[in-house]
Amino acid sequence: MIPHARPFLTPLLRSGTPIVVCLATALYACGGSDADVSTIDERLSGGETTVFDDTWGSYKRPAANLDDEALRAFSLGDHLFNRGWVTAPASIPGGDGLGPTFNANNCSSCHSKSGNGGPPDAEGEAFLSLLLRLSIPGTGPHGAPNPEPAYGDQFNSRGISGVPGEGRERVRYVDVSGTYGDGTPYTLRKPFYSFEDLAFGPMDPATMVSPRLARPVFGLGLLETIPDEAILAKADPDDADHNGISGRPNRVWSVRKQAMVLGRVGWKANQPNVEQQTAGAFLGDMGITSLLFPEENCTSAQVACLAAPTGVTAGSPAGTGELSEADLDALNRWGKTLGVPARRDVDDPQVRAGQALFKSAGCVQCHADDALTGNDPEFPALSKQRIHPYSDLLLHDMGEGLADGRPDFEATGSEWRTPPLWGIGLLNTVNKHNFLLHDGRARGFAEAILWHDGEAAGARETFRAMSAKERDALVRFLQSL
Ligand code: HEC
Ligand code: HEC
Repeated sequence: MIPHARPFLTPLLRSGTPIVVCLATALYACGGSDADVSTIDERLSGGETTVFDDTWGSYKRPAANLDDEALRAFSLGDHLFNRGWVTAPASIPGGDGLGPTFNANNCSSCHSKSGNGGPPDAEGEAFLSLLLRLSIPGTGPHGAPNPEPAYGDQFNSRGISGVPGEGRERVRYVDVSGTYGDGTPYTLRKPFYSFEDLAFGPMDPATMVSPRLARPVFGLGLLETIPDEAILAKADPDDADHNGISGRPNRVWSVRKQAMVLGRVGWKANQPNVEQQTAGAFLGDMGITSLLFPEENCTSAQVACLAAPTGVTAGSPAGTGELSEADLDALNRWGKTLGVPARRDVDDPQVRAGQALFKSAGCVQCHADDALTGNDPEFPALSKQRIHPYSDLLLHDMGEGLADGRPDFEATGSEWRTPPLWGIGLLNTVNKHNFLLHDGRARGFAEAILWHDGEAAGARETFRAMSAKERDALVRFLQSL
């Protein structure tokens, strides 16, 4: 029997495609031909969670196979993700505790429509959804990055009333030119970051800075449910198969488990799961403490920050932070159960040609197109799903050009987690821009590929040597994801 057969039909019925008719009979008995079977399967990037929506709202829909109770939890989390948090003490308890220092006062100001942030596009433009993480050499507790002594581990440019923000970030872009194999020229841009109006004096001269752009939030529950062994099976730390691609897992500290676990979330797989990423965002981005991170992030140099009033969670025991446990739970449930948008145009000849090139160029070695989730009794909708994330969730050395030079747990300064590519073809529709890579330097798919180096140098060179027609096909394939 097909698990979750009833809810599975919902997205297809919504999609209004002819596939509905044969699916109503049986999942893999559609029309009898192999072509039909592959069409159905490939569209379902997130298995039965897949949502058939190709509009601006496609990143923020609930998984298609949620039951009524899970849908109720989803709406609560959705509300919390979009609400603005205010300075303590607020007249209505709950929802306060913003700051003392922070970057934004709601989650969705960086992840607009649950999607990607954009970098400051021009010099002097304000930073919003591009964060700068800071550390100095050495490691903090459990192998975490060692925070900059006066500014902490993330630059917070804003402060609540009476508390100074830490200063201002600036970016400068420098052009880097190159040519495709067929002689066509291209120009890439490389960002350089600096700080101005620093409130607590100069930073430690050894400070390392990691720029991080807000990533889309959907699909992470599925990635969290992939068994560790399946991810580790793809790792090849010593490149035993001599294909130039190694792939290493990150190991990070789980506050909930009080143990080192596999990292899966964030540009360097620097967080274990949605819950800890969420609690980390509340503290790091909004200055709101929680059960997982109960201490405000004021360094000893930040006197006004230390003296500022903190928010109170109605009914919660002391020391459990400003965010209630129920709210953290609702956001975790919401984050884990966002649906993944379905692919489009899978049978278009140009898309098929691009898909073949994606495989032959070796992109798929890191952007792995197939995974099976394990079993999570608490989240039946995420269990036993065949998914197409286009990521192995492993770290790869991407070369000097992309390096931030800042280690994060076991990730080195030039390693990044392969970002999932599912839904990426809808980026412009949802977030109205095409900025890609960890710092948003790439202005579209081709530039993102041209920055690939290190372990991905071979794949990049294959792309650079392609004819314009082949390059267009590969990009068209990415647009279908
Ligand atoms: C100031 C901007 C900003 C705000 C506000 C913000 N985020 Fe993020 N978010 C980011 C950045 C940047 C990353 C990438 C972090 C990294 O790589 O370490 C991210 C990553 C994430 C991820 C992981 C995505 C992935 O694919 O790895 C989740 C989940 C997430 N944020 C949830 C939230 C939630 C929930 C909130 C509100 C509590 C929130 N964020 C608020 C900027 C922001
Ligand atoms: C060795 C592993 C590896 C190979 C091979 C590889 N990639 Fe990537 N890819 C990555 C990593 C890691 C990043 C993130 C780098 C960063 O942000 O600095 C990335 C980023 C991307 C992005 C931007 C995603 C985003 O969310 O910003 C696209 C698009 C992409 N790759 C496409 C491709 C294509 C197409 C190919 C084949 C020509 C390819 N990649 C080959 C590892 C790889």
